[in-house]
Amino acid sequence: MMAQNTEVRKRPQLREVEGIPLQTATVDNWSQIQKFEAKPDDLLICTYPKSGTTWIQEIVDMIEQNGDLEKCQRTIIQHRHPFIEWARPPQPSGVEKAKAMPSPRILRTHLPTQLLPPSFWENNCKFLYVARNAKDCMVSYYHFQRMCQILPDPGTWEDYFETFISGKVCWGPWYDHVKGWWEIKDRYQILYLFYEDLKRDPKQEIQKVMKFMGKNLDETVLDTIVQETSFEKMKENPMTNRSTIPKSILDLSISPFMRKGTVGDWKNHFTVAQNERFDEIYRKKMEGTSVNFCLEL
Ligand code: A3P
Repeated sequence: MMAQNTEVRKRPQLREVEGIPLQTATVDNWSQIQKFEAKPDDLLICTYPKSGTTWIQEIVDMIEQNGDLEKCQRTIIQHRHPFIEWARPPQPSGVEKAKAMPSPRILRTHLPTQLLPPSFWENNCKFLYVARNAKDCMVSYYHFQRMCQILPDPGTWEDYFETFISGKVCWGPWYDHVKGWWEIKDRYQILYLFYEDLKRDPKQEIQKVMKFMGKNLDETVLDTIVQETSFEKMKENPMTNRSTIPKSILDLSISPFMRKGTVGDWKNHFTVAQNERFDEIYRKKMEGTSVNFCLEL
């Protein structure tokens, strides 16, 4: 019991920027992040947490490397695309890593549109957004927070359900994030994809990404990318499965990073009452938007 309490105390709290909870080191570094200088040929991978960021990163990298798996094994996935709001002194920040990267750069963020450094809009960069249905996102985020020692302790599933629906999680409310990026998708160069479509028809979605990146790979290369970016392959791949991260940051004995990779796992977590309450809140929060999610395949 004592040990458990100590563990809970060690978990950090979040701080807010414009009402959006973020990690303390990100908030400390906020002016550097806001001054980030994007370049016109930057491609920014944007996601709400737990929406398939790692998956789309691996897909983008495999396309960039023309399907050469060995080149994708050059380093762990977190090091391939600088995470612009990432800060963890004394390590170089995401901004510093991006600055040091030769162009054309591929970067990533979990920031909602209103917090994105303005130079991304000014430079009309390409944005690749992946959205995942809220219920599966919540389940995935819950298990992630159980094992991620640098995010707040999620408490029980019942506690977390309330935290998530009120948007008091790192990077803020799911609803505003997916709506924010959806609503501007026709004004900027945004390819808006869904996790569920990637699951249903990976080849078709990978083809969309390839075209968006201005690449033209032949069928056999595409088939290799589909195979190598499957959940099963990425779960076994030490460059994508987070197995090299110290336990003090990600405790994979609590929950694996590559956990289930399915659509509809929420059904194994939500009670009937929680589901009804969630649907009611969801209706209100998502009123008036045309973005539509699939909850099962
Ligand atoms: P689950 O926890 O539901 O399994 P992120 O990279 O944004 O943190 O998202 C992690 C989620 O994406 C996890 O979901 C993980 O299993 C899933 N994921 C990662 N790679 C995947 C793949 N190749 N296919 C399907 N799901 C994948």
